[in-house]
Amino acid sequence: MADLRRGDLDPNRLPRHVAIIMDGNGRWAKRKSLSRINGHMKGVDSVRTVVTACREMGIKYLTLYAFSMENWKRPEEEVRALMDLLFQYLMDELEEMLENDIRLNAIGELETLPPRVYGRLMETMKATRHCQGMTLTLALSYGGRAEIIHAVTSIVSALEKKEITREDVGIDSFASHLWTKDLPDPDLLIRTSGEYRISNFLLWQMAYTEIYVTETLWPDFGREELVEAILDYQSRERRFGLTSEQLT
Ligand code: FPP
Repeated sequence: MADLRRGDLDPNRLPRHVAIIMDGNGRWAKRKSLSRINGHMKGVDSVRTVVTACREMGIKYLTLYAFSMENWKRPEEEVRALMDLLFQYLMDELEEMLENDIRLNAIGELETLPPRVYGRLMETMKATRHCQGMTLTLALSYGGRAEIIHAVTSIVSALEKKEITREDVGIDSFASHLWTKDLPDPDLLIRTSGEYRISNFLLWQMAYTEIYVTETLWPDFGREELVEAILDYQSRERRFGLTSEQLT
């Protein structure tokens, strides 16, 4: 815990929900003349480190963009390796999640995952559903636009069945049709590898999210950088469209 520099962080102003776009595994591998798959393997170590650190710090929600819908178009060998890594991660981490009171959640078109990964995911979610220390959400086969279309379709269907009326459709009720219905909106988005893009991640939910971009590649991202990101977040004034004076 010592290297978390916990004293510097204000425990009363921690982001409740941290979302991360874990980018740069391929570039990390290329720089070291390794295969892209080796980069993803090292990326899993960063996932472990960050999950543990967030839990220790008292972050209540952590959401990781692990596989986008667009990622299916990558070379078959890379997709297979990512699915294998995910399966292995779920196998290896269940005990750790239970010990640390971490609930596993997932968002995305989950039924498009290979059956064994889907099965393992469901089992892990079921086994950890009583955990309350932190909710770890994996975005898998996830796309923000698809999530919005899914919500619209679900609302249209509820209107057609006369379960709701036009007046029931508003910002909060819309959010309750999203895959993230049980999560608060992210307070902080971290993106590694220096790209200033949202890449179809949590489009609706990030309306007022603070964004932190670091040049560090995901396999090199660790506790210290996480603390840096949160310190930076704590230095910001979140106005949600109001003026500074209105906030004080
Ligand atoms: C982006 O790097 C990363 C991904 C597409 C996959 C992220 C997956 C992991 C970190 C490992 C599996 C996850 C879990 C939760 C076990 P990139 O390949 O696009 O990097 P590049 O832009 O440098 O090519």
